[in-house]
Amino acid sequence: MNELFDVDGKVIVITGAGGVLCGGMARALGGAGAKVAAWDVIEPAAQKVADEINSNGGTAIAVKCDVLDKASLAEAKEKTVSELGEIDILVNGAGGNKKEATTSDDLSFFDLPAEAVRFVFDLNFIGTFLTTQVVAKDMVERGEGTILNISSMASLCPLTRVMGYSAAKAAVNNFTQWLAVHICQNYSKDIRVNAIAPGFLLTEQNRFLLTDEKSGDLTARGKLIIEHTPMGRFGEPEELVGTVMWLLSDAAKFVTGIVVPIDGGFSAFSGV
Ligand SMILES: NC(=O)c1ccc[n+]([C@@H]2O[C@H](COP(=O)([O-])OP(=O)(O)OC[C@H]3O[C@@H](n4cnc5c(N)ncnc54)[C@H](O)[C@@H]3O)[C@@H](O)[C@H]2O)c1
Repeated sequence: MNELFDVDGKVIVITGAGGVLCGGMARALGGAGAKVAAWDVIEPAAQKVADEINSNGGTAIAVKCDVLDKASLAEAKEKTVSELGEIDILVNGAGGNKKEATTSDDLSFFDLPAEAVRFVFDLNFIGTFLTTQVVAKDMVERGEGTILNISSMASLCPLTRVMGYSAAKAAVNNFTQWLAVHICQNYSKDIRVNAIAPGFLLTEQNRFLLTDEKSGDLTARGKLIIEHTPMGRFGEPEELVGTVMWLLSDAAKFVTGIVVPIDGGFSAFSGV
């Protein structure tokens, strides 16, 4: 059974690896023997994750890269291949929301600045698209590889307030299905493309929406989410790891083009 979930020796690129969720995935995958390339626009954050993996006996490098800049992605790929070998797995994790692209009592839909919405759309969708273009080209030439996109609960049914983020993650889901089919039809039946849609985990990107900045108490939105989550709590970053290991390993060998919710039942509950 362990062999099915084996990622030992696999070269895995994780974008946004300096962040909370993808840093957690990087540590788990590094601990399972994968050679991890932690890509992030904030190099010291990626370096910290790589150092932790290396000091625990794993193999990891930190690579500075901007997922919105193809030249930067190409450089990151060259560095990764020369230091770790050909890339087996890509996790497109860089993403997030922005306060200025989120409606509130002070910012109506009609005043949302296009540049803020564009920023969020680009970071989540264009960043996934460009990174995949750069990394998957080699996978296609070798005829094998695995891609995992990081979507969100906002993608399945849009969440109030986060308009640009919901649209961008919906685009990520659509792209996941599109690319899974396109690659099988045109390049290789052994390259899989899937996504996870994490539910609500309390991290820096959503803390301002879910908790009060001063008291730390749940906001009305935070309370609503908990009430709508059958499991009655926020998720923990490490609770993504099992599904990620499944989708990245041979355990999911016949699985492509799906988006897996990891949400404590949020997406299954109509509210009634
Ligand atoms: N936190 C949640 O509850 C939650 C829920 C669902 C989905 N997600 C998704 O999970 C992923 C990780 O989220 P997180 O909460 O760990 O966020 P985070 O902010 O902790 O991490 C995001 C990382 O991406 C990096 N990054 C930002 N712009 C970049 C760029 N242009 N190029 C390269 N790297 C860049 C940041 O430096 C940061 O280290 C995101 O795609 C996010 O949308 C998060």
